[in-house]
Amino acid sequence: MPHVTGPAVVPRPLRLQQLSDQPFVLVPGIAVVAPDPAAREAAERLATLVGGSVRATAAPDAAAFRLRLLGPADDERYPPTDPAGGEEALPTLPTGESDEELPAGAEAYRLHVHADGVDVDARTPAGLGHAVTTLAQLLTGTSGGAWTLPAVLVVDAPRFTWRGLSIDVARHFVRVADLDVVIDLMADHKLNVLHLHLTDDQAWRIDLPSRPELVRRSSGASVGGDPGGHYTAEDYARLVAHAAARGIVVVPELDVPGHVNAALHAYGELSPSGRPTDEYLGIDVGFSRLTAALPATDAFLHDVFRDVAAMTPGSYVHIGGDEVQGMASDEYAALVGTAAAAVRAAGKQVVGWQEIATTPLEPGTVVQYWDVHADPAPFVAAGAAGARLLLSPGDRTYLDMKYHPGYPLGLEWAGHVELRDSYDWEPATLLPGLPAEAVLGVEAAVWTETLRTLDDLTTMLLPRLAAVAEVAWSAPDRRDWEDFRTRVAALGARWDAAELSWYPSPQVDWQR
Ligand code: ACM
Repeated sequence: MPHVTGPAVVPRPLRLQQLSDQPFVLVPGIAVVAPDPAAREAAERLATLVGGSVRATAAPDAAAFRLRLLGPADDERYPPTDPAGGEEALPTLPTGESDEELPAGAEAYRLHVHADGVDVDARTPAGLGHAVTTLAQLLTGTSGGAWTLPAVLVVDAPRFTWRGLSIDVARHFVRVADLDVVIDLMADHKLNVLHLHLTDDQAWRIDLPSRPELVRRSSGASVGGDPGGHYTAEDYARLVAHAAARGIVVVPELDVPGHVNAALHAYGELSPSGRPTDEYLGIDVGFSRLTAALPATDAFLHDVFRDVAAMTPGSYVHIGGDEVQGMASDEYAALVGTAAAAVRAAGKQVVGWQEIATTPLEPGTVVQYWDVHADPAPFVAAGAAGARLLLSPGDRTYLDMKYHPGYPLGLEWAGHVELRDSYDWEPATLLPGLPAEAVLGVEAAVWTETLRTLDDLTTMLLPRLAAVAEVAWSAPDRRDWEDFRTRVAALGARWDAAELSWYPSPQVDWQR
């Protein structure tokens, strides 16, 4: 595939056509016209970006941004982007001046920059949001000088409906303000699922009404004795709302039946001894477990999954299921089955790490692949039997892996992951024998054993998050490493301007 010259948009759009050499020059205070109230969020973001003002109607002759949503602005019609959302009922957009049909899908958008302004069309607020993100990458200018946009036509839609980032807020607590930064960064890369790994051996980070001791006893610290914390119901609701405003769905994970020392520390009844375990702030894995035979276990699973589901407007709840060592397979299957049943009873769909594929699964269950050294046969069989696979291969998408040996942050048990490793892989053929239609999407993950600050976190995310985002968004015939490394080079200056810490991979000639 030839290199792209011209505007550097990441992830690469389905179609980007340069229409002329004459850029569109933005006047100060340019109108952002958004007649539909449901377009308001995207319009406000765009207005902030270009120093414009949001209006419901256009002045007759002035150049403007015009944001168009088809249909009425009721919430039924325009929920926050949700990978579970059906797309059958979506209206077809009329063709614009450009004569380019909008591609299928709730998140598709079309944007046309021409002499009279910029026309943006989409079916949903999420689609408009993606258009604004593209516009942000197309804008060039200097402070004090005029901002310009190249005259382009962009027609775009994602390849996968699930484009996620998982963040471990258990090993090190991540404050709401820092998660807000990460949410905006996700939107900058057109990601749409924020998976929060809320519990582990070290801590339980979400306050649930049925089990107040979880955060009272088990959230005060992080790995190594670093400061801890937890999310109140209000904190969580604010996070969910901020994410929804960016077109991102939150998927909460309560990790069971292993990785549960924080729960056993809070509630002694969950251990065979009847006594609370000690707090654990190390980084070993695999040593803690629930016990199916204990009377308290079933009630615990039902209560915590009911509570977290009730706080979560999205369609999915993650039950964990990983790295349970030394448990008989029938006990493991029973505990996974109880957790999954509790999630389904609360009206949600079940997500679990790949190990759950060894248990009987309901069709539609989402199996999250992570350990590339495991025998893939159970995941392939699960996919063939109706499960959906979410791909997070550790040697590609675990963004807490060191970039290279000796890198000061991160771990290396899944390998060293440079930018190209995160980019150069193909979801459809990753698991030989898996039906391509069983692949639901791609998710990056960042585990926080060694990551203590927002700077640590973004240094591991950037630039690799851009690579994973393009794997998830762009069709295989639009993806090429040489082309990507040219486009991603332009993002460094943007991360600098946003005062984000990032890793200047030597694989890219950064523009800074
Ligand atoms: C995992 O990395 N234990 C899911």
